[in-house]
Amino acid sequence: MAVVARLSSRGLLLPRTGSGISALSTVPSVLQQHHQVHHAVIPHGRTGRSSVSGIVATVFGATGFLGRYVVNRLGRIGSQVIIPYRCDQYDLMYLRPMGDLGQLLFLEWDCKDKDSTRRAVEHSNVVINLVGKEWETKNFSFEDEFVNIPKSIAQITREAGVETLIHISHLNASMKSPSKYLRSKAVGEKAVREEFPDAVIMKPSEMFGREDRFLNHYANMRWFGGVPLISLGKKTVKQPVYVVDVAKAIINAVKDPDAKGKTYALVGPNRYLLYDMIEYIYAVAFRKFFPYPLPRPLYHLIARFFEISPFEPWLTRDKVDRVSGGQPSVSSWDISFCICNFYF
Ligand SMILES: NC(=O)c1ccc[n+]([C@@H]2O[C@H](COP(=O)([O-])OP(=O)(O)OC[C@H]3O[C@@H](n4cnc5c(N)ncnc54)[C@H](OP(=O)(O)O)[C@@H]3O)[C@@H](O)[C@H]2O)c1
Repeated sequence: MAVVARLSSRGLLLPRTGSGISALSTVPSVLQQHHQVHHAVIPHGRTGRSSVSGIVATVFGATGFLGRYVVNRLGRIGSQVIIPYRCDQYDLMYLRPMGDLGQLLFLEWDCKDKDSTRRAVEHSNVVINLVGKEWETKNFSFEDEFVNIPKSIAQITREAGVETLIHISHLNASMKSPSKYLRSKAVGEKAVREEFPDAVIMKPSEMFGREDRFLNHYANMRWFGGVPLISLGKKTVKQPVYVVDVAKAIINAVKDPDAKGKTYALVGPNRYLLYDMIEYIYAVAFRKFFPYPLPRPLYHLIARFFEISPFEPWLTRDKVDRVSGGQPSVSSWDISFCICNFYF
């Protein structure tokens, strides 16, 4: 009912005071509510896809890897999900069965058009931003993806009076990172906080799952004649998190009023040396594991070659710096709570 109260406080749903009220005052109050509160925000029914959770969520970036799991989780508790998209309609079809009939609403979205963003958020009580790209394109730099778009979403979300904003950053986001992706993520976090101080910021480490670009990346290195690793992967520590756990954490944050204004680190239960992790992947896939050391400049040179590709670049210099280096920085001072598997 907090949702109803919020919508009411925005003057959208309560009977207006003034001349109109005299006519309404003769109508029984239950009937008034029935007419004025949209049924999508009144929780009813048992849990499940055909119930109504009272959550109306706009999910930006729903067509991505994490997006499908978030939409599915929202759908299965009976939420209404608004999905702004920029791709072909046929590329969205796999999302349709994730919600009950009429519960998933698709909306064409242009991230550079503020009115289009406003239309997407104005009827929601939760906004989740999953927009991101692993590489820069001629239309969108990392600064656009991780600073300008999140900032604009946060600003419009605040102006629309939406209660909850969830922004996805990265565990290793830092101004000192050699990776532009991670530096932009750090700036983006700050920008979102400034625009929407109560935003919940989630910082997952590398996510793994069926369609990931992390484990699959290492598992498909056959054309290198083995697995090239900087320092043989013995200096890099990873703590990957399962994508479904990240989706669950997002839903928990949506439901938890105490999550507002907090930053969460999302990591898996175990830390691995990159070498050990890849050795394990190859053992599970029954493939021969042939690792060899490759110096960073040479790795960059190879990545540069892939960057020329007009299609999705399989490797970029930024990805080399992001994935092949560093430690998961869970101890960062601004993280108020660390979510491992016990949270779920
Ligand atoms: N994957 C990881 O391991 C990982 C780890 C930590 C943090 N994160 C962060 O988590 C978030 C989700 O990750 P993900 O792996 O699900 O990303 P993803 O698969 O690349 O999906 C990104 C989504 O953002 C949309 N998008 C990107 N640029 C856009 C633009 N300019 N205009 C409109 N839509 C745009 C994409 O739409 P299209 O489908 O139309 O391109 C897609 O729906 C990202 O912010 C990412 O940085 C990811």
